Amino acid sequence: MKFENLLVETQNYITQITINRPKKLNALNRETLHEIHQAFTALKTDQNTKVIILTGSGEKAFVAGADISEFADYSVEEGKNLAAKGQEEVFDFIANYNKPVIAAVNGFALGGGLELAMAAHFRTASENAKLGLPETSLGVIPGYGGTQRLPQLIGKGRAMEMIMTAKMINANQALTYGLVNHVTTPEELLSFTQKIAEKIMNNSMVAISTAIEAINANYQDGVNGFNKEIDAFGKSFGTEDFKEGTSAFLEKRKAAFPNK
Ligand code: COA
Repeated sequence: MKFENLLVETQNYITQITINRPKKLNALNRETLHEIHQAFTALKTDQNTKVIILTGSGEKAFVAGADISEFADYSVEEGKNLAAKGQEEVFDFIANYNKPVIAAVNGFALGGGLELAMAAHFRTASENAKLGLPETSLGVIPGYGGTQRLPQLIGKGRAMEMIMTAKMINANQALTYGLVNHVTTPEELLSFTQKIAEKIMNNSMVAISTAIEAINANYQDGVNGFNKEIDAFGKSFGTEDFKEGTSAFLEKRKAAFPNK
């Protein structure tokens, strides 16, 4: 896949998507958001992609936010459309993706950049990462799901403080908050994250996809997550992966899942 602002590389069933506008600290302009949507759409059915790692190009930034130069003169209606389209095509799209998506936060993750990392299923970070939602310093609020996902991940009080102060937190504070799961050196971030992806791929990708849906049901209006779990649990019994997984356990061998 060839893109203007993304690098997409697949190796051993792990696809790395790198946001590649290092001179602009990988800020998300319209074109980049469109390309992210295109890449994720294409990879949904790609047999060679089981796990996606999302990261930023260069040593400084994961993504320093939405591209401020593009929306500085937007009207109320244009602002609303920007958030709606972005949430549908990129942020919700990733959050509900059928394959695991891990954000490897390698530097600044600000505004839309932190929202992108939060849309991923979980996050790793390098020691130099700085995370924040600085939108109120620009006279606006987070519009790509930040007001919803940040409190879900770190609790309401901490999210209120981060959004009200517009201050960045460092990687270790993000670890304490549970905003990222692991902190590594910058050099080790990608290999460490790949190792987690490899552990994931030892398991049934069919079951993992179903687990993502069930977990996400906890955060959907009008959906009873426990009922969703019961249905999804039942359906798992009809999959080839379930037959293989349980047979392998009983036969004391490693499972070889067919629907990888
Ligand atoms: N949108 C557009 N351009 C951005 C950007 C953004 N969100 N973040 C960084 N850039 C651009 C800068 O304008 C600069 O471009 P230039 O070289 O053409 O002038 C380039 O990226 C490098 O950024 P710079 O500010 O020079 O780097 P720095 O190390 O001094 O500061 C930050 C780094 C992240 C603190 C600073 O860039 C920043 O505050 N960015 C905006 C963060 C933000 O508010 N994001 C939320 C948007 S809703």
